[in-house]
Amino acid sequence: MRSAKQRISSALILAVGASMLMGCELPERNTQVKSIKIGVTLYDQYDAFLSELMEDFNTYAAAKEEETGIAINVEVYNASQSQTTQNNQVEAMAQDGCDIICVNLVDRTDPTTVIDLAEKNDIPVIFFNRELVEEDLERWDKLYYVGAKAFESGMMEGQIAAAAFLQDPSVDRNQDGVYQYVVLEGEPGHQDAIVRTEYSVNTIVSSGIEVEKLGYAIANWNRAQAQNKMTQLLSQNGNKIELVIANNDDMAVGAIDALKASDLSREEWPVVVGIDGTNVGLEAVKNGEMVGTVYNDKEGQAKGMLELSFALATGGNLEDLNLEDGKYIRMPYAKVGPDDVDEYLDR
Ligand code: BGC
Repeated sequence: MRSAKQRISSALILAVGASMLMGCELPERNTQVKSIKIGVTLYDQYDAFLSELMEDFNTYAAAKEEETGIAINVEVYNASQSQTTQNNQVEAMAQDGCDIICVNLVDRTDPTTVIDLAEKNDIPVIFFNRELVEEDLERWDKLYYVGAKAFESGMMEGQIAAAAFLQDPSVDRNQDGVYQYVVLEGEPGHQDAIVRTEYSVNTIVSSGIEVEKLGYAIANWNRAQAQNKMTQLLSQNGNKIELVIANNDDMAVGAIDALKASDLSREEWPVVVGIDGTNVGLEAVKNGEMVGTVYNDKEGQAKGMLELSFALATGGNLEDLNLEDGKYIRMPYAKVGPDDVDEYLDR
């Protein structure tokens, strides 16, 4: 099956021929494309943040279809945490005539097969959320990345945690002037896990607060795993924990599940902070169980992916998209506290 780009080129050749014969104006390039097909593969379709991002992506696709009259078919695949499965899906999408492939890598250090398949079939790839190293993105000129600035989310999470300690003396339960904390980490090797942990703790320290790490656990972005790990951390540390730094909201909410099931009274709970602003995360900020979260702009990322996909598939202009280094879209994060949570819940 020919790609949309090939269809555009043939349409243009026909149009140029016709205009030379009849002396009339060239039609707009976009009017030649009637439909586009976007293939998306997710590392795990049950990931809370990504399923919300995909809902937004489908909403933007429907709106774009309405606005332009060009049918946008989106096909979503679940790689179920297997890079081999994902590679096979990319091959299937290429055979199926996808004009653009959006890849949420399972293993961000292993994009070789995906890149080779894309280049062989001349199909642009938009990687998103799980960032490959720059050298890999440089391997072909039709590779792009949509995501956010990981370090910024860690800094903001640290600022929220520090403000809670500085503003409310009761947060320092044992009144020793030191912030005792535990960390719930995402998958090892994920750019957001490594960087968020480092920047959140460093930011608390650089606001002049002494900290003591009581423990940490890897909970792979997952609420149920975080609940288990937090239950263990509570049994080891009891009411000594004053702060839970979670690399994402789902794990923060898992920690809250563990706190609810524990012997601690609500007043004895530690401060809990997260990142993402998922529905459950925002609800927990609204009802005071989390002191705040950091908004991972899923609408902005979904819109960036859709606009970039559309422009690439229709031969449109990439200039309006303001790509960083011609390849990146990175949305900024934002702090969310009880005062502005409603605005985010309404998005
Ligand atoms: C999000 C996590 C998500 C992960 C998946 C991160 O940016 O904050 O919630 O599980 O991406 O790759």
